Amino acid sequence: MADTPDAEHPSALRLLATRLKRKMPGNGNGGRPHRLRYAHLIGWGKYLPEKVLTNAEIAQMVETSDEWIVARTGIRERRIAAEDESTATMALSASRGALETADLNPADLDLIIVASASPEHIFPATACLVQDALGATSAGAFDLSAACSGWIYGISLAAQAIATGSIDHALVIGAETLSRMINWEDRATCILFGDGAGAVVLGPSDRPGGVLSSVLGADGSGGDTLSVPAGGSRMPASPETVKNHLHTIHMDGRKVFRFATRVMRQAATEALEKAGLTMDDVALLVPHQANSRIIQSAARALKMPAERVVVNLDRYGNTSSASIPIALCEALEEGRVQPGDRLLAVGFGAGLTWGAAVIEWMAKPPLERPWRSRLRAVLYALARVRSRLRRWWRHLETWLFRPPAPGA
Ligand code: UT7
Repeated sequence: MADTPDAEHPSALRLLATRLKRKMPGNGNGGRPHRLRYAHLIGWGKYLPEKVLTNAEIAQMVETSDEWIVARTGIRERRIAAEDESTATMALSASRGALETADLNPADLDLIIVASASPEHIFPATACLVQDALGATSAGAFDLSAACSGWIYGISLAAQAIATGSIDHALVIGAETLSRMINWEDRATCILFGDGAGAVVLGPSDRPGGVLSSVLGADGSGGDTLSVPAGGSRMPASPETVKNHLHTIHMDGRKVFRFATRVMRQAATEALEKAGLTMDDVALLVPHQANSRIIQSAARALKMPAERVVVNLDRYGNTSSASIPIALCEALEEGRVQPGDRLLAVGFGAGLTWGAAVIEWMAKPPLERPWRSRLRAVLYALARVRSRLRRWWRHLETWLFRPPAPGA
């Protein structure tokens, strides 16, 4: 990836380093063809806000009950971001965790993708804010809008870029602050969603494994079943849109439910076929955490026993694009994934979109390398300084070098 920010004023040293880097095998492609490589998941991290919102607390806000929510969704509580937290701050925390387990420095990243349905802004991309805060000076960065399927879309794209040799290391994040987009008077939606972030680092390897296959799908005819109607070019913000809660999540739950039960099985089966595997080869199903009834129905259809299905929505609710990477992280932390295991991740969401990926897990548990962690802490501190200096320089540059007046 191009060294975008510094390309404006590259120092001689930096130019030399960039040229040398391009000459190294596997770094950028410099127009040369590469043989296909495998894209392994080598790092993982998650972040969940501390504040817990229980069903009982929601029952004090709208007409519902803990019994109804648990019976219909399986959710008992969810996490809510603190005032000073947002999609970018949570994405950053999860990313630092993923770089830590990968034992990689931010400058080694070539690409950052943030999948989110609740990004920091319409633009700039949350991924650019994460890039800056990490000090990932060699990375391109963009946001991906595929709602709850976003993280699967992200790893699919990143894995293909790694396999072709166009990049080496990618950071793929799912991060959401859905609590800020909920109508807290709408009992059909406010019970479902939660905040959090999960991230993985993908890297190249000659050893078979990693992302073995992926399937992505979309059906825009169902776009109106799950949407945030206002705030875009179709319906810009106005006092009316705010008054009518049109900047919050609107959902036809039953329609989404029916769609979800159908596509979960279909996408999972297609991804397995593409990888030349069957359900018997899968150690763990990591589904999108939307509703325990949807997960059970998919597991039944796929003939997957409950003990081989990751479920954590009882504690976190539906964290949209973050739900699969958070569930994956928890499964790893609990020792439920061993090197050589094959995982099947499958999700669905607004769009409508769906996706599934078969992953052969090759990463070993991370080694403790305290001095490398300390070095990264220093790099993050330097990234903050670098960011401030660049802002300051941009102001100064604008003041010093005024563009010539028209006709001058
Ligand atoms: O990432 C994708 C995001 N979205 C989803 O995955 C949503 C998928 N859909 C669902 O999870 C379920 O459809 C819901 C959990 C949203 C709803 O469950 P349901 O079994 O489909 O209920 P329903 O919508 O058919 O509603 C049944 C009744 C309705 O009352 P009436 O019309 O039968 O009198 C609702 O008004 O339950 C009522 N209801 C509630 N009652 C108590 C709806 N929400 C609530 C509530 N508490 N929170």
